Formats: sequence, C-alpha cells, structure tokens
Amino acid sequence: MSMVIKGPVKGVKGEIRVPSDKSVSHRALILGAISGGKTRIRHLLRSADTLSTMKILQDLGTEIEEGGEELIVHGRDYSFREPLDVLDAGNSGTTARIMMGVLATQPFFSAMTGDESLRKRPMGRVTAPLRDMGAQIMGREFGEKLPIAITGGSLRAVVVRNSRASAQVKSAILLAGLKAEGITEVYEPILSRDHTERMLRAFGIEVISLAQKEGHLVKVRGGQRLQGTDVLCPADPSSASFIGALCALGGGEVLLREVLVNPTRDGFFRKLREMGAKVSYENERELSGEPVADIVVGGGSPLRGVEVAPEEVPSMIDEIPILSVVMALAEGRSVVRGARELRVKESDRIRLICENLRRMGAVVEEFEDGFAIEGVERLQGAKITTHGDHRIAMAFAVAGMVAQGDTIIDEPECVKVSYPEFFEHLRSVVENS
Ligand code: S3P
Repeated sequence: MSMVIKGPVKGVKGEIRVPSDKSVSHRALILGAISGGKTRIRHLLRSADTLSTMKILQDLGTEIEEGGEELIVHGRDYSFREPLDVLDAGNSGTTARIMMGVLATQPFFSAMTGDESLRKRPMGRVTAPLRDMGAQIMGREFGEKLPIAITGGSLRAVVVRNSRASAQVKSAILLAGLKAEGITEVYEPILSRDHTERMLRAFGIEVISLAQKEGHLVKVRGGQRLQGTDVLCPADPSSASFIGALCALGGGEVLLREVLVNPTRDGFFRKLREMGAKVSYENERELSGEPVADIVVGGGSPLRGVEVAPEEVPSMIDEIPILSVVMALAEGRSVVRGARELRVKESDRIRLICENLRRMGAVVEEFEDGFAIEGVERLQGAKITTHGDHRIAMAFAVAGMVAQGDTIIDEPECVKVSYPEFFEHLRSVVENS
C-alpha cells in the first residue's frame, strides 16, 4: 500500500534516540556467536536485516536468549551445526557477505539465498577471496549471485587487495582469516567502516590496522580465539541523517541522542555542516569502543551546493540518497563522483535518486558514478518509485515533507529493513512544532 506525504511542514522540533546502528548490531550478533562464552548485547537494532542475521545464527545452532532491553548470545567458538535448510539473508547484504566468511570456516554444507533485490547483488567480491582461502563455493553465475552453497573447512591465509572500499568484504575475510593458517591481510583504497576491527579488539583479538601511502591495511593472525563480552549498540547515524536533513530543510531544531560518530560513518553530518547547516556534536564520549555524541541540528540557515569527492564517499555511502535531497534544495550546483557502488546497493540508487528528484522538479545530471544537481527553491510533490529500497523510501519521504503538495511513496513498509519506527518518529518531530 502506498503512503501519501503532505508537505510542506511548518517546522521541526524534538529529541529522538533513533534505532541502534545496523552495522554494529549485525557484528555484535555475529562476533558473539563465533566467540567462546556469553555476549550480552544491549540496545540491539531489531529490524528486518538484523533479524535475518539472528535467524541464520539460530539455524546454525546458536542459542540466543531474549531479555527485554538486552539479549544474550551463547557463543559457539566457531563450531556451528550444519543447517537443515537453506539460510535466508532476506534483503541484507551485510548478513549474506559477512556470514559467508563465517561459513567458509565450517566443515559442512550450507546454502544461502536472499530476496529478489539481494539475489541481484554481486557476491563474487566475497566468494573469490574465500575460494582462494580454500573454501568450496558454488553459486549462480559461478558464485557471483545468490543462491550460493559453501563447504568450508581448513583455510589458508591470503593477502587481498580490494579495488573498492567495502566493510562487508573486509569483515568476511577477517572472520575467515581468524580460522586460517597464517596472517590474513586486507588492503582497501580508503578505510571503510571499521566496526569489525574495533569490536574484534573488544573480544580480545589483536588486529593490526595501518594507514598506507595509498589506502589502508588491516591484518589478523589465524588461530586467535574470541572471548564473549558486553556490547552496547549506539544510535545509527544513517537513520539519524533523515531526521537531521528534515530539520536542516524544514527549520527548527532537533537533538539526536547517542549517535555513532565514528569518522568512517559521520560524513553526512560533516557535509551538512559544510553546506551551511548548524550541526554540533555535544557530550562526546565512547560506547563499547565507538565514538558517540548527541547531535544538535538547527534548521533554517541557507544551504549552499557542495562537492563530494570519491575519497569522501565511503563515510557517507548509505546517506547519499538523503544528501541528494538536501543538495536539491541548496543554492547552486552540487556534485557527487566516485560513487559507482550505489548502483549495486538494495537498488540502483543513482538511477532512483535522479529519476525521483526530476519528478519533484529538480535539475539533475546522471553520471555512471554519481550525479550533479542544480538546487531549486522548492520541490514539488510527486509519485516516488522506491523499488522496495528503504533508504530511497526514507529520503523521498523527507523530500515530500518539505515539498509543495502531495508525495506518494510506493512501498513505505520497506523502512522496516533498518528503521521500523521511521514514520512515527517523523510525525513526532513535526507534531511537536
Ligand atoms: C555495511 C557496509 C557498506 C554499507 C552497508 C553496511 C556493513 O557496504 O553500504 O549498508 O555493515 O559492513 P559495503 O561493504 O558494500 O561498502
């Protein structure tokens, strides 16, 4: 069922703790399961994607005890049970890719699939290095697409030179590397989100992370054992970006509590500040090895167009749909380049950003690896196509709230992938104005 958003809002005001970080939540579950002993996770994100990870871990024999605000993962110390059926990663690329790294270490047969969107996404970036490590992998298009079958076992360490920054690929290889003979090294051109490295350290693993002349290197020695620990998940900066953008465009002030501000993740908020919005980090602190702050966004200042350079893209990769909406309402020209990866996310995000912004009256030029936007004074309500992509749905719901007239979002329920309370939260900050 589609949803109608009526714009424009008069202003935005409130205080929100958006749901917990999706990347940290996946990793807390997975690292808890591969460790020895118990892991207590507080404030885990419960969304469709993290529930896919949880279900797969349970299908592999992991006991997960629910207890209100927290849950306990009984670690299996990398000794899982052969699953009885095909594992289903749903819409979640992080689940599929990181879990393949874990499955590569297991001496049994497993098969994994996903929904229609995930079955279109490239998996060779993970299956190729895992095959080099010694795992047997079969799959559609020679292992490029799901469904994929894996029989793992004794692995050897590898040196992987990834041509793109990808935390999912890096994490899969590192988790396989911990059970491999020797030292596994992963190079990437720009440091991608480093939650796996930080969390592995909290589980007692020695991880070497080095800036290189060109790019970044991470390495782990095989044979180290993870020890269960406590993990507290902070609020997700990707989810917070939608509310922050609404405030920057709609006027007013919001306080976004306990947001993860890891420099590999907070590129959107830094860019929003560069565009002229009031953005401040207050009460900066550390939670479970990750930097966290309360972010205050003040709206109403005039915004100016900006450029996003290729090296800035990884720190805001999931926020580019909402950043494009802000750019469409900033004065002058904005350009994003070096973001080709957006074409193979939950949808072809470059195409959907350009198509939907044009329908709302923006002037947009599409490139293979990005786009350029000439800002306009006002967007017009329009019919939005999301292809079931949560971040496209949320970005254009925000656009609809500041546009003139009605905006129709075709599959609003897809927000459950990362931010099930999204529409209630939007309403709560607008109603309080
Ligand atoms: C994620 C890594 C990123 C990001 C995705 C979550 C993760 O993907 O876009 O939403 O949790 O590791 P890539 O690894 O493909 O860059």
